[in-house]
Amino acid sequence: MIDHFKGGGLDPEDAEVFRMQAHKMLDACLDQLEKAADRPWQAPPEDIDQRFDIQANGRDVGDIVSQIQMDVLPYHGGNTHGRFWGWVQGSGLGSDLIAAMASSVVNANLGGRNHAANHMERAVVDWTRRKMGFPEGASGLLVAGTSQATVISFQAARLRVLKDLRAQGQGDVRLIAYAGAGVHNATRKALELLGIGADNLRLVPLKDHKIDAQILAQMVQADRANGAVPFLLVGTAGSVDIGAFDDLNALADVAATERLWLHVDGAFGAWTRIADAPYRALTDGIERADSIALDFHKWMYVGYDCGMVLMRDELEHRAAFAARPAYLQGADRGLAGGEPWYTDYGIDLSRGNRALKVWCALEIYGETAFSDAITGNCQLASMMAGEVAKQPMMALGVDVISNICVFTARADLPADIQSALNKGIAQNLQESGEAVFSTTDIDGITMLRAAITNHRTRPDDIIEAVKAVAREANDVGENS
Ligand SMILES: Cc1ncc(COP(=O)(O)O)c(C=O)c1O
Repeated sequence: MIDHFKGGGLDPEDAEVFRMQAHKMLDACLDQLEKAADRPWQAPPEDIDQRFDIQANGRDVGDIVSQIQMDVLPYHGGNTHGRFWGWVQGSGLGSDLIAAMASSVVNANLGGRNHAANHMERAVVDWTRRKMGFPEGASGLLVAGTSQATVISFQAARLRVLKDLRAQGQGDVRLIAYAGAGVHNATRKALELLGIGADNLRLVPLKDHKIDAQILAQMVQADRANGAVPFLLVGTAGSVDIGAFDDLNALADVAATERLWLHVDGAFGAWTRIADAPYRALTDGIERADSIALDFHKWMYVGYDCGMVLMRDELEHRAAFAARPAYLQGADRGLAGGEPWYTDYGIDLSRGNRALKVWCALEIYGETAFSDAITGNCQLASMMAGEVAKQPMMALGVDVISNICVFTARADLPADIQSALNKGIAQNLQESGEAVFSTTDIDGITMLRAAITNHRTRPDDIIEAVKAVAREANDVGENS
């Protein structure tokens, strides 16, 4: 018989060698962190897939550490660099490294039971609850991101109107959700996933980039008169395209009158709650929501992945998810003790340790450092708008509201040529390593878009990046 128990196969063969190589990895990671400003995105080499071909024959750990240094660290996603403003991505923190080391060796499963990480998640949820102005007794859960938090919120919202949902499904009830025209795709996706259907999302027209509350009320009443069941209103705190905010107090008033669940997509914008004036006021009224989806991995700069769902009413939260088969019963003492078991608050049973990286970030840097960085990001977006205004051919797509600046490099050209030019400039600057803009469409024109959720960006970065755009735009002008 083969001896499968000789041991050692899945643990370090030589503890000293492993320790030495782990230190080498740590040093390489610290170098990467310290040199973030010198390491913009670069395209992975052509043979990257071959380099990662899995042989699974067992290799020397030192060999693996060297390969990670060569093939992984240089080809990051760019978002650790100070001139990265594409999409909405956080910049990552040194505290993540401390947290990742500890969480990897503890290997805690945060589905439940009585261990430190579970208690820490409770502290993180509670801190976030207070920042968002939710009452004591509200509940929350760390999740992969806002997309998952949205699904969880909508399920709870649906249960409020369909008490037998968990046993019987939605049947032929026509549930209707409402959101502003600029709502993130995560809302549509969640409605699709839950079987509510994206056609049952009403996009409410905007006035000054906010949901028009009067039209919203009319739409709800018309749907109800037609036999549908309006159940959910999604407010946006920070729209992905332009960083706009709904008037959350106005939405809370409509939600109260029309008996709608108010969910706030605050993926990044919820964090204006801890910013200075005037940005903090953008989220006034968020405390009146039934649920909030937000991310630590965007505008709190914490490493991926790390989002949270918050619910005003813990009972409604649990009603939507709590379920414990016999083998998961809790106990009044021992390892199966401890409350809450987070599996009762969401989709996952097994869950990694996201709490430690948030806790480390808050405890190491302090809330004020985050407030300053968030406020500073908004000021940098305004500064970028100022730099754009200095360039005769550039124009803003829309006034800066928070941390997003959208502009075209050549407002003097026809729309299709502008679009092609802006796309090309984004790609050129990504490839040259000078700056990462992404693009979005404003009034039919594809424009450059900078979403500044980056604590490493400095005023000079903004000045240099706009200069680089101007150079590219002029180059095209000269060559055309
Ligand atoms: C406003 C908004 N909502 C939702 C999402 C989706 O969040 P996540 O990527 O964490 O799932 C994003 C992502 O950029 C967003 O900006």
